[in-house]
Amino acid sequence: MTTNHHHHQLLTLLLFLLSTSTSSQSHQPKQDNPITRFQQFLQINTAHPNPNYYNPISFLITQAKSIGLTYRTLEFTPNKPLLLLSWPGSNPSIPSILLNSHLDSVPAEPSKWSHPPFSASISADGCIFARGSQDDKSISLQYLEAIRNLKFVSNFTPTRTLHISYVPDEEIGGLDGAAKFFGSREFEDLNVGFVLDEGQASVSDEFRVFYADRSPWGLIIRAKGGPGHGSRMFDNGAMENLMKSVEAISGFRESRFDVVKAGQAANSEVVSINPVYIKAGIPSPTGFVMNMQPSEAEAGFDVRLPPTADPESIRKRIAEEWAPATRNMTYEIIEKGPIKDHMGRPLMTATNDSNPWWSVFKQAITAIGGKLAKPEILPSTTDARFIRQLGIPALGFSPMTNTPILLHDHNEFLKDTVYLKGIEVYESIISSLSSFEGASDKKVTV
Ligand SMILES: *[C@@H]1O[C@H](CO)[C@@H](O)[C@H](O)[C@H]1NC(C)=O
Ligand SMILES: *[C@@H]1O[C@H](CO)[C@@H](O)[C@H](O)[C@H]1NC(C)=O
Ligand SMILES: [Zn+2]
Repeated sequence: MTTNHHHHQLLTLLLFLLSTSTSSQSHQPKQDNPITRFQQFLQINTAHPNPNYYNPISFLITQAKSIGLTYRTLEFTPNKPLLLLSWPGSNPSIPSILLNSHLDSVPAEPSKWSHPPFSASISADGCIFARGSQDDKSISLQYLEAIRNLKFVSNFTPTRTLHISYVPDEEIGGLDGAAKFFGSREFEDLNVGFVLDEGQASVSDEFRVFYADRSPWGLIIRAKGGPGHGSRMFDNGAMENLMKSVEAISGFRESRFDVVKAGQAANSEVVSINPVYIKAGIPSPTGFVMNMQPSEAEAGFDVRLPPTADPESIRKRIAEEWAPATRNMTYEIIEKGPIKDHMGRPLMTATNDSNPWWSVFKQAITAIGGKLAKPEILPSTTDARFIRQLGIPALGFSPMTNTPILLHDHNEFLKDTVYLKGIEVYESIISSLSSFEGASDKKVTV
């Protein structure tokens, strides 16, 4: 009887344990840890063309509250809010540190993915698949996890105030996001002395760091000429004029690409120009009119200028060789952001002893046994250019070593161990930067 009774109790306990363990596996009151928090954040779809910015902000505010950070939202453009978190330092009068990331991501084509792009599912070897896992929701949360650990595990108190900003619209140029924020009175009041923004994954065991972006231009060239019968050879037709320019541009492109192929410069260190569209021809119900030379033709190019390039010489080339008025051509340059800073200097952050923040950053990496690759210019463009325009030093950095570069690609993923290591890296960087007292204490003026 007693034995039976004990058996019965044991069985009940077993059943109870079994039932709780299966129920926690099936529906998801998941345990709360850095990886599950990262997954939850990745499951919030913020992809263009219709990113929802309020959901990720609400998630981040919950995190901020649990860490004890102050928060406020700013909305410089309707429905494009940004979130600003702060961790006040013991000496709020000296310049602060800003950790920036963007809320949005590029779209994903689910049919081309091995895992649904907003599932954040983990493979057996720990790879977390999601759009935004590398670009750049990893750093968005790593900043917070690092602060959580510094605060609650290390009992660390910053000397400088730390701000964390989450901005909208980076992936579509940042003009309604970072550009408005960094140009605002609210930003000026933060008295920011140094900024960390996103970087890129590294396929080796060295962390990559970026001291400049290339400035993007959209170039449109248009040609006009007399229309003519398709059978007739005549001078100055629109297509002929356009094709002469396309040839000249291709020659320039090849000369720059040769420098890269010869190993004399990195891709991101030269001016690139790539054709993105050609618009010409007279449409017909079956395609195009085939026996007529059109009177107008145009082509579009993506142009990227490294900070060391001379924009005036490129403008001159466009005006004189690529779209000369003497050949009935016109052009339009769409500048997508600044090229020089407010003092007319190239948009780059010094990575030598002239920049005290650089030394602190570098030491923080080596302090935890990390290796840093030679600083690079980012081939693409981030919001950091709007910071550098103000003359404020900014580095692009995403701590992802031994990771394929998958931003904007199908099957974007980040390995759990790489993500967790990144948190440690930020703990070192954040504690070093925020306790560093040596840099100029003068207020940043814009
Ligand atoms: C410019 O266009 C006009 C008419 O569209 C044409 O008559 C003329 O020959 C063109 N000139 C050149 C240099 O292409
Ligand atoms: C540091 O780097 C900047 C930017 O590249 C350069 O202009 C400057 O001369 C360098 N200063 C020193 C001390 O090497
Ligand atoms: Zn990004």
